[in-house]
Amino acid sequence: MGEETAGPIIVRRWEKADLEAVLAVEEAAFGHPWNRSAFEEELDNPVANYFVLEQAGRIIAYGGFWLVLDEAQVTNVAVHPDYQGRGLGKKLLSALLDTAAELGAVSFTLEVRRSNKAAIKLYEGAGLRVQGVRPGYYADTGEDALLMGCTWHAEPEEEGEA
Ligand SMILES: CC(C)(COP(=O)(O)OP(=O)(O)OC[C@H]1O[C@@H](n2cnc3c(N)ncnc32)[C@H](O)[C@@H]1OP(=O)(O)O)[C@@H](O)C(=O)NCCC(=O)NCCS
Repeated sequence: MGEETAGPIIVRRWEKADLEAVLAVEEAAFGHPWNRSAFEEELDNPVANYFVLEQAGRIIAYGGFWLVLDEAQVTNVAVHPDYQGRGLGKKLLSALLDTAAELGAVSFTLEVRRSNKAAIKLYEGAGLRVQGVRPGYYADTGEDALLMGCTWHAEPEEEGEA
């Protein structure tokens, strides 16, 4: 169902009550999903910033990043397979980028499997560029990760009036 028929898509921060629904998106979207305890830890992680996309009360995508000092590191981005290819990945990524910038991040990076063409296209479309390769990064398959990212300039400190 499209946005026209199923109602508007809301982007909001996740909360504890979303755990089951986020886990369901994760399990549907990834061959090697994170488990429940990984998400429980993230709920209590003070550097974590997670967002969900919700339509008519259903969580259809989620993603997040850690903000460590002024570096935003994306941990996951996932759209439920029933809703992929409709611009939701773009919507979610844009919320992550905007929030990271608002929180003062000067860089925004992530790792992606070299074979993940859909994700690479999404990231390139948002202005992220390949910054390096992490050979054999994924323990499950031994696949390389591409390190992708973008940087923002730190705002110069305002000169105080003498
Ligand atoms: C990667 C993912 C988040 C993209 O979300 P999405 O909602 O399907 O993507 P969008 O519809 O917003 O499309 C974004 C761009 O990617 C492209 N794209 C989407 N799916 C694609 C596919 N299967 N093959 C090639 N390009 C694809 C779109 O064409 C679009 O580019 P365009 O604007 O130039 O046309 C989604 O496919 C997903 O959840 N995959 C499984 C989990 C995953 O791999 N996450 C990334 C981990 S790093």
